Formats: sequence, C-alpha cells, structure tokens
Amino acid sequence: MINSKQQKIWEQEYRNPQLVTKDSKPQACTLRFLKFLRKQGFVFENSSVLDLGSGTGRNANHIAGVYGARVVGMEFSGTAVKLAKARAQESDLSVDYRQASIGEKFSFTDKSFDIILDITSSNSLNRNEREIYLAECARVLKDDGYFFVRALSLEGDVNAKNLLKKFSGTEAGTYVMPGIGLCEKVFTREEIIELYQKYFTILKMDKDTGYTKFQNQSYKRNFWIMYLRKRIG
Ligand SMILES: C[S@@+](CC[C@H](N)C(=O)[O-])C[C@H]1O[C@@H](n2cnc3c(N)ncnc32)[C@H](O)[C@@H]1O
Repeated sequence: MINSKQQKIWEQEYRNPQLVTKDSKPQACTLRFLKFLRKQGFVFENSSVLDLGSGTGRNANHIAGVYGARVVGMEFSGTAVKLAKARAQESDLSVDYRQASIGEKFSFTDKSFDIILDITSSNSLNRNEREIYLAECARVLKDDGYFFVRALSLEGDVNAKNLLKKFSGTEAGTYVMPGIGLCEKVFTREEIIELYQKYFTILKMDKDTGYTKFQNQSYKRNFWIMYLRKRIG
C-alpha cells in the first residue's frame, strides 16, 4: 500500500510547488557520478537505469538523451509523471515512467538494472518502507551494477537541526515540514553507513551542500552522496 499521506503531499507539491524546482537539467552531483562511471569504463549505450522518485524527469531524461541508456522512472506523484512524460516527448525521448511507490515491492525481475539512482527521494520513506526499498534495490541491481544515492544529512545542517527540534516526527531523525506536512528523514554518517552496508559496498562517500527554496526563502541543506556497489555473497 502506498503511504498515501506522503503521496498526497507530494502530489499537492507538484500541483502547487513550494519545494521542488521546475528545473529540467540534472544536478551537478548527477553529472559527477556519470563522469565517474565513464572513467570506470562503463558503457551506457543500451544499459538499463532505474531512477527512483524520478520527479519531473530531470535526471532520467538527461541519461536517456545524452547517454542512450534505457531508463525507467518510478514516481508516485501522477502530476510529476505526466510532466516527465511530456518533457521526454518534447525532446523525442523514450523513457518508461511508471507511477509507483519506491517503498513497495518493485515490479521488475531480479538483476535487471545496471544503474539505480536515488536522488533525494527515499528521505520521504518511513522505516518499514526503507527496508523494502533497500532490499528491492539490492534485488533488481545487477551484480556488477552501481547505485547512486543523494540523501539528506543531519551533520552540519543547521536547518535540519532546527526542524528536528521544532517539528519532530514520530520516528527518530524525522521532522514534519511546517505548512506542507511532509515527513522527512535526515541521516547521521553512522546511520546511513549502517543502513546501506547491509546490502552494498561503499565505493565513495562525500558531503554535498545545496539550497532548497521553501515558501520563497532559501535554506542551505547538506546531503550525503554515496556511490555503491552490490555486496555479493
Ligand atoms: C526531492 S524530490 C527529487 C526528485 C528527483 N529525484 C530530482 O532529483 O529532481 C523527491 C521525489 O521523490 C518522490 N517520492 C517520494 N517518496 C516516494 C515514494 N514512496 N515512491 C515514489 N516516489 C516518491 C517525490 O514525489 C519527489 O518527486
């Protein structure tokens, strides 16, 4: 069952954006990851990419258009899916956008993707959904595949600390965004390492900073960037 409360909030957000940008270009961290893969000798043509929480398709459309990969986008907001599809069509791209939750079992066969992207999407999952998402990512990623994660960090993030203090959610490390009611999880370094290490080996881990606009104000936020590979055996 889709976490309908969070889905409704994201749906509302795409209808009347207060958080998400209308940007159709990929983030710098995505471009850095793609460059890293090229350096590793990764061949994109005909590779399969799964973009989790694909939003309006800024990353999925770029990877399909520039790199010639076969891309699937999973996103639970119908409005975002529609926009992503329209943008792909405008650029004559074929991207398979599906309206589905990343916190439920995925409808893909085992080991079917070369790359999985989670670009600030799984922060909206609750603890149970996160367990499913992790196990499903490990299941559908090929043994030699790559997983790229950008996730909200607690460390050094004054705004996250304020939100946790003033608007704490029911699960540890969560807050409920005032005004929109979106519940988000922020991770300490130890937490995020422990979480992903269950299924994945960490190739690279960095901190990134970005600015989130909310109700016309800009907030500095910190993110964990992780390049992962599947733990085999
Ligand atoms: C911060 S936005 C990032 C969008 C996109 N990855 C990007 O980088 O532009 C988070 C996205 O995840 C989606 N999302 C959150 N929880 C989800 C879930 N359980 N299933 C599918 N999509 C989800 C939201 O609707 C939203 O589009």
